[in-house]
Amino acid sequence: MSQLNKYKRFTITSALPYANGPLHIGHLAGAYLPADIFVRYLRVLKKDVVYICGSDEHGAAITIKAKKEGTTPQAIIDKYHKQIKDSFEEFGVSFDIYHRTSSAIHHDLSQEFFLNLYEKGEFVEKFSEQYYDEDFDQFLADRYITGTCPVCSNDRAYGDQCENCGTSLNPTDLINPVSTLSGKAPVLKPTKHWYLPLDKYQPWLEKWIDEKEGEWKVNVFGQCRSWLKSGLQPRSMTRDLDWGIDVPLEEAKGKKLYVWMDAPIGYISATKQWAIDNQKDWQQYWKKQADDADDTCLIHFIGKDNIVFHCIIFPAILKAHGEYVLPQNVPANEFLNLEGDKLSTSRNHAVWLHEYLEEFPGKQDELRYVLTSILPETADSEFTWKDYQARVNNELVAILGNYVNRVMILMHKFFDGKVESEGGNITFTDSELNAEVGRYYDELGKNLESYRFRQALQNVMDMARLGNRYLTEQEPWKSIKTDAAAAKNALHNSLVLIGHLATCLQPFLPRTAEKIFGMLNVAPVAFDEEITFANGHQLNASSLLFEKIEDEAIEKQVQKLADKKAAAAAAPKLAPVAPAKANISFDDFSGMDIRTGTILTAEKVAKTKKLLKLTIDTGIDQRTVVSGIAEHYEPEAIIGQQVSILVNLEPREIKGIMSQGMILMAENAEGKLCFVSPTGAMPNGSVIR
Ligand code: 2FM
Ligand code: ZN
Repeated sequence: MSQLNKYKRFTITSALPYANGPLHIGHLAGAYLPADIFVRYLRVLKKDVVYICGSDEHGAAITIKAKKEGTTPQAIIDKYHKQIKDSFEEFGVSFDIYHRTSSAIHHDLSQEFFLNLYEKGEFVEKFSEQYYDEDFDQFLADRYITGTCPVCSNDRAYGDQCENCGTSLNPTDLINPVSTLSGKAPVLKPTKHWYLPLDKYQPWLEKWIDEKEGEWKVNVFGQCRSWLKSGLQPRSMTRDLDWGIDVPLEEAKGKKLYVWMDAPIGYISATKQWAIDNQKDWQQYWKKQADDADDTCLIHFIGKDNIVFHCIIFPAILKAHGEYVLPQNVPANEFLNLEGDKLSTSRNHAVWLHEYLEEFPGKQDELRYVLTSILPETADSEFTWKDYQARVNNELVAILGNYVNRVMILMHKFFDGKVESEGGNITFTDSELNAEVGRYYDELGKNLESYRFRQALQNVMDMARLGNRYLTEQEPWKSIKTDAAAAKNALHNSLVLIGHLATCLQPFLPRTAEKIFGMLNVAPVAFDEEITFANGHQLNASSLLFEKIEDEAIEKQVQKLADKKAAAAAAPKLAPVAPAKANISFDDFSGMDIRTGTILTAEKVAKTKKLLKLTIDTGIDQRTVVSGIAEHYEPEAIIGQQVSILVNLEPREIKGIMSQGMILMAENAEGKLCFVSPTGAMPNGSVIR
């Protein structure tokens, strides 16, 4: 009997994708397609199921993207939330709700969770030294600090990781750390944070996870064991950031919840919203209903990079809260590679879903099919365009499409598409065929319930192969001439088989299943229902389910990836750009008197490395300015250089010299300085505005 029968309801989640970029095939193959197949299977079993997802709109991933695109985090999440949601819809990922973590309901629930744990004394409060940017007056998230990797000497390592050698780092491990905000060395400052003492939960987690041996996937179980083996450490649930959910404590002003104290709670807040929209009780889908009652089955579908968060940290949070059910399973997938290389957003080495939709319109099920066939269920797997073409042409077109098409054409040709049988509703008259189809259903159910979706899809394709074999053996196109009843019988059996195929295809290829039901002129059925063709049932016109993918289409895609690779290799490695400062008023701006001027003399300031003493002809007067450009320019090389100078800056004494004004210099993140001067000669004293 199916393991699933012991549950009253199912809460299925897929990892909330960061709303910081479009989706690619790796996303689909990781946490979404498997979950969607599973959910659709539960639905055809008529189970009570809710399928939850939404955009993860907090965390450094969002602010970094905003910085890169020179815009605000809000603009980033609005843009990508919509794009991601649309792509999911197009590919038939059938969430009951696709929510957002920027919503008020989510902010409230996350704060409620935090306070619940806080009031129970579940957090440990600790001060730690953290890097702080004095110019920007803020603590720096790990990603905002770069420096030299202590392992491989890469001078572009981040505060959490060196992307050159892969070492995981703490910001304080970096040699010569630099803030990416100001480009200056950050200082260490003490800051208070609230830690979840995972070490305290270790014995409980060990016991809970040990019970999952044999039930959870080997890759997931193994990763959990190795985390536990190395000993869990308290983990900070708060951060010094300016984007995220406020820590709901008076003394924590300006601090935000750690994104992992926020994102997974997004599953719950999304369920709350869904329940409001659909007059349901969300608590039934998340909270323990009665002591020891295994009523609700919670399953998290994720990619392997999220295992620790879903198997250790989130369960510890749920356990600390006390009222919630724990995940029954966390079937994480490994990674999908593309044409021999890792999928990479930054290198643009990806097949983007929105681009696929434009270039292969209407072929969503083709991609679902190919990706399901190669899901990285137990190890990393690989997508290639050649393989895509081969699977579509040799399997979807030649086996599934061909079978359905042959039967439909013969039914229309010989019987005008009318199902006529004196014996009432038609069912299998061939017991062998019936038994074999029954075996495929059993296999299919077992595979789906064990998260072996690749194998499950093969069961359905084997059913189509069986149909083709049966038709070839029966040869109704021959028997029609000698024994019309036999031909009709063979085609009726084939129609019943097509009905089963459509039923079983529903979780995998929803559009195709719908199309077949349409051609059969029957309503979709659940797994335990039979399609009935009553005497006189009229079939609809048939059309091809799939088209062959031509070589040119594939070559174009391969070329596109090669072009992207070449472009990524040729692109200059841009230094990060400092974010925009706060707006100023027009009056503030017009108060600045900036003029063109010319450097008349230049000399080094004694006992300094950086300073030059300049005499500038400002058109108004000739004045002395001390400028920090000595490391960039030899004094004699800049005599006669035209410059822009702020002439009404309060004079100040620098190294005993009265400096009157400031030369404007353009500075990049690496600290390189260039003069800002008119492109053509301008009289000194011209106003810059
Ligand atoms: O790794 C990620 O893409 C995260 N946004 C996943 C969050 S999963 C969850 F907990 F919501
Ligand atoms: Zn390194």
